[in-house]
Parts: sequence; C-alpha cells; structure tokens
Amino acid sequence: MSNKENFGSKFGIIAAAAGSAIGLGNIYRFPCEAGANGGGAFFIVYLAIVLFMGLPLMLSEFVIGRRSGKNPVGAFKALANGSKGWGVIGYLGVLAAFLILAFYSTVAGWTIDAVGKSIINYYHGLDKATIQNDFQNLLNETWQPILSEGIFIFLTAFVIVKGVTKGIEKYSKILMPILFGILIVLCIKSLTLPGAKDGLVFFLKPDFSKITGKVLINALGQAFFSLSLGMGALITYGSYIAKKDNLTSTAFAVCISDTLIAVLAGIVIFPAAFTFGIRPEAGNELAFVTLPMLFDQMVGGYFFCLIFFLLLTIAALTSSISLLEVPVLYLTEQLNMNRKKATTYTAITVFILCVISSESLHDGSPLRLFGASIFDTLDMVSSTFLLTIGGLLTVIFLGWKMKKSDFMDEYTNGGTISMRLRKPIYYIIKFLAPLAITVILISQFIK
Ligand code: TRP
Repeated sequence: MSNKENFGSKFGIIAAAAGSAIGLGNIYRFPCEAGANGGGAFFIVYLAIVLFMGLPLMLSEFVIGRRSGKNPVGAFKALANGSKGWGVIGYLGVLAAFLILAFYSTVAGWTIDAVGKSIINYYHGLDKATIQNDFQNLLNETWQPILSEGIFIFLTAFVIVKGVTKGIEKYSKILMPILFGILIVLCIKSLTLPGAKDGLVFFLKPDFSKITGKVLINALGQAFFSLSLGMGALITYGSYIAKKDNLTSTAFAVCISDTLIAVLAGIVIFPAAFTFGIRPEAGNELAFVTLPMLFDQMVGGYFFCLIFFLLLTIAALTSSISLLEVPVLYLTEQLNMNRKKATTYTAITVFILCVISSESLHDGSPLRLFGASIFDTLDMVSSTFLLTIGGLLTVIFLGWKMKKSDFMDEYTNGGTISMRLRKPIYYIIKFLAPLAITVILISQFIK
C-alpha cells in the first residue's frame, strides 16, 4: 500500500470518484431508463435504491479498496481470510469493464460527433425530422462512428498511461462544476417551454401502479451504473484514498452530486421532449435529438451547445478512465505487466468490441444476440446482471466474509472518527442490501 500514490487531497478523491460516477449514465442513460420505465414510478424507486443500496455499496467498495490497497481481484483475495473463490467477484468486474466500455464508447462516439456538428453550427434551424434522420444516418454509417470511438478510446488510454492522480484529478476538478452550471441554465430554459408541465408530471409524479419487477431491476441497474458500482471501479479508487479521509462524507458527496446531475438532466430533457413531440420511450434520441433542438431555441444556443457536448465528452472520459483502470490495474498488479503494455492491450480489445457494438446498430444488421442488437445486449447484460450480481456479492462479502472488526476499523479510520451510523450501515450492508438485491433479481425470473 505504502508505495502507492494517494489522491492529493480530500477534494481530489471526491472529484475523481464523482468524475467516475457522473457521465453518460446521468445525461444519456438515466433519461432513457426513466422514459422507458414509466417516468415518476422509476424515479421514486431509483431514489430509494440510491439511498438504501447505492450508498452502502459505495461505502463497501471504498472500505474493501482502502483496507486492501489493491485492485478488485487482489482485494477480494487478500481480505477473504484464506477462503478461496472470492477473487471471482474481481474477475466479474474485469469482464463487466470490457462490456460496459464497448457500448459506452459507442455513445461517447455520438457525443464527439455532436461536438463536431456543434462546431460548424450544423443543428441551426433544422427541424426535428432532419435531426432524427441525421442521427439514424450516423448509426448506419461505418467509418464515422469508428473514428469517433477510436478517438475516445485513445484519449481514455492516454490518461490512464499517465497515471492516476496526475491524470484524473486534474481534469475532473474544474470541469464538472461547469457542466453543472450549464445544466442549471438548460433547466431554466426547459421549464419555460409549453410542454414543461407535462414533461415534469411524467418525470416526477409517481404512479405506484406502474412499479413492476422490470422497473425495479432497471432502476437497480441504472443506480449501480450511474454510481459506478458493482464492478470494482470504486474499489480501485478506494485503494488510493488516504487513511485519514472520511469515507462516509466522501460517499455521500459522490451520491448526492451524481443524483443531482441525473435529476437535472431529467428536468431538462422531459419538458423539452414533450414540447418537441419526442416520445419518452424514444431511447437514444431523447438526448441526441432533444438537446440540439433545445439549444437551437436558446439565446446563445451555439455557444451552450458546443460547451455542453464538449463537457459531456469530458464527463464520459473521466468515467471511462475509471472503467479502463480496472482491467489495467488487474494486469499490472496481478500479472506484473507494465502499465503501458496493459493499457495498450485492454484499449485494443475494447476498441474491437466497440466496433462490433456500433456496427450492430446498422439497419438490418445481423449482429444480434438475445433478440436485441449487440449494443443493447452489452448494455443490458452488463448493467442489469453483471453489476447487480457484482454488487450483491460485494455486500455479501463485506457482511459475511470480512471480519466485522476489520470493517469497523477501516470505516472509522482506526477508531479516530466516531461514526454514529456505523451500526445501521453495517446491518444494511449485511442484511437489507443483499436481501433486496436478491429479491429484485429473482423477481425477474418469476412471471
Ligand atoms: N457511472 C458512469 C456514468 O454514469 C459510468 C461508469 C464509470 C461505470 N465507471 C463505472 C458504470 C463502473 C459501472 C461501473 O456514466
């Protein structure tokens, strides 16, 4: 542990973990999931899951990471008190990282494409049908998406090779607050549109009769995805947290800022979508058609559009860094590969998967698996199953395998800070979270 770099400051680790959490998951995926799962019903379930499962799982990952000072595979092995097999949680995480990165980079590619279109003021004056058409054409193109995905994966690899504190901390500190500011401006604009009321009612008013097993699992998957949980990304970050830092306040800050950004994105997108006649179930178009149309109606739209998509690209980058860091750290720490080599190999693998993912979105493409495009299947398998199962095993590990005294010691920084909530938190991790995740998972298989 001692020869490992620590994050420079308290704000550094919050910024880096929030940088990991805040990304396309908040601005692209959250509205997609909320729209497809009944709006308000999804929203209320989502909030409850963040509080009762997301937050405790985040603490668990931080504790496991900082206690062991290792990558996820090594961490579970080191803390398992000699019993074998727990490293498998780490391997699941390495697998999830590849699958998530593949479709994540596809979406990041569209974001980079939107940056290009914003620069040339392409969206100006276009009607909905044209923007929709252009977006569909982009999905059907071969080289354009590959190029932008390639750029994105290259940038991710570049930051990773440069090393953790220097690379990640520097970028996320200044930029995320600016993204937040732009979202606030966008909210104000969106709320003045004629469809604002309908959009808000859809997004925020819970209709409890719409809460189904599917809504529960999708909210669970989205919460873990958005908070970067369930695959060890925050275990690797935890391994860089200084011993004196307060884990609870760090986790709180990350959960709150991540959720705030997702809620703001919903408040921006749904009123605008209802105004422009874009269905809430429209999926990819919710962000990539609605937002350009919204910008075009604003004073200073050119400027806001450009900065927004640029910052979204950077937000995606600080997230993809945390994803790629998982396999890279595994290869360097467990298999003694050097960092440059490990990054190159993983980045090339991700790029190949990503090309398959984006080509699978062509009209009539044969690249389908389980009745959906490979892009959608990668998203579903990784978030809905790998992250939830990874998260479940992580809380079980912490609650039932790791020594309670180890947890308490790490959680209270060796007893130096008093944590009044340590007992309830421990019992949530030990009983409530595993039970709730199991019930939600099993409910998918009973019809
Ligand atoms: N949370 C990020 C987002 O919302 C994506 C992400 C980064 C992630 N690291 C992760 C998702 C680890 C799951 C696990 O965009």
